[in-house]
Amino acid sequence: MAKNILVTGGAGYIGSHTCVELLKAGHDVVVVDNLVNSSQESLRRVEELVGRSLEFRQVDLCDAVALERVFEEHTFDAVVHFAGLKAVGESCEIPLRYYENNLHGTFELMKAMDKHDCRNIVFSSSATVYGDPASVPITEDFPLQTTNPYGRTKYFIEEILRDQCLADDRWRCLLLRYFNPIGAHSSGRIGEDPNGIPNNLMPYVMQVAVGLREEVVVFGDDYETPDGTGVRDYIHVVDLALGHLVALEKLPGLPGCTAVNLGTGQGYSVLEMIAAGREASGREISYRIGDRRAGDIATCYADSAMAASLLGWRAEKGLSEMCVDAWRWQSENPDGYPED
Ligand code: NAD
Ligand code: UD1
Repeated sequence: MAKNILVTGGAGYIGSHTCVELLKAGHDVVVVDNLVNSSQESLRRVEELVGRSLEFRQVDLCDAVALERVFEEHTFDAVVHFAGLKAVGESCEIPLRYYENNLHGTFELMKAMDKHDCRNIVFSSSATVYGDPASVPITEDFPLQTTNPYGRTKYFIEEILRDQCLADDRWRCLLLRYFNPIGAHSSGRIGEDPNGIPNNLMPYVMQVAVGLREEVVVFGDDYETPDGTGVRDYIHVVDLALGHLVALEKLPGLPGCTAVNLGTGQGYSVLEMIAAGREASGREISYRIGDRRAGDIATCYADSAMAASLLGWRAEKGLSEMCVDAWRWQSENPDGYPED
């Protein structure tokens, strides 16, 4: 059944791919985004890809008055809450900004939802809430521990949503803990458009492939992993987007607040990712071994059994498809989206 969905942060990387899948499935979509880390061009391209329109409101979630107006003008069945700041390094430099934006934005959102009788929410959490796990694969009942302010905003928001669901049994919440989203829509029209120097591995690899940067610095090759470099669970962003679609379908039938990993269950090392990037692009990707990055862990990958049993979802796209799609986006949009 078609639903009316509010997507916060919908102009961003994961949000824009999710909007495509929501619209394709027949849902109506209202996006609220302040464009602090995105451009409206992503949404124009979403509409062009699907041949349907969505409503965009340039609103900061911390602006209670503007948000209230959005809720007064619509009746939402559910909210998918992507909006937030996400750079780990920056969160250590300006923690207040991260706490204020991510927590305050969520408070205002939850208050408006409660007031307007919309109590279904799918929240973008992260594998970062597991900190440095004692073993892999990681199941949802692993102890939570965080190592930086960004990760703590995710952890705190999870706890706030959990408390609200305990206090009021009309609330339904899915905490989706993403592993490492990469890739882009297969059309090459939408993708990840990092600001400045990319923090994450694959955008960096792609920028080296396209000639924007000289070489990848591998952050350490002395970890206890098969080739000494860090191992992560990379997941295609379209698989992730489809995870939100099923989350919205299942949400009304689930009790209270539930955390679910969205990963593939398969880990790849940095050197394997560089090789896959080379294969997909047909370009040489120079790299050198550098120091470890503070706060990094050796290995992280999901146990994805809960997503399969609870949501009937599993990631379908493999590493080469992730890299081919990332390359198509990067090579056709070497400078990302044009300025608005
Ligand atoms: P993104 O930066 O591309 O998208 C986030 C969007 O939120 C942006 O469009 C930004 O403009 C918007 N936004 C930020 N603060 C806002 C505010 N106060 N009001 C309104 N809009 C605001 O990031 P993404 O990669 O698409 O990530 C989406 C969500 O998933 C984030 O919450 C992120 O923390 C989480 N997450 C991302 C990853 C990842 O690797 N990309 C991994 C785990 C979790
Ligand atoms: C990062 C975030 C984490 C977030 C996750 C998913 C940090 C410290 N952590 O984790 O909170 O949940 O993204 O988006 O930013 N690497 C290099 N060279 C580079 C970049 C990365 O060797 O230029 C290595 C890293 O050491 C790591 C792997 O590549 O082993 C993946 O790094 P990255 O893409 O930044 O993701 P995470 O470290 O998993």
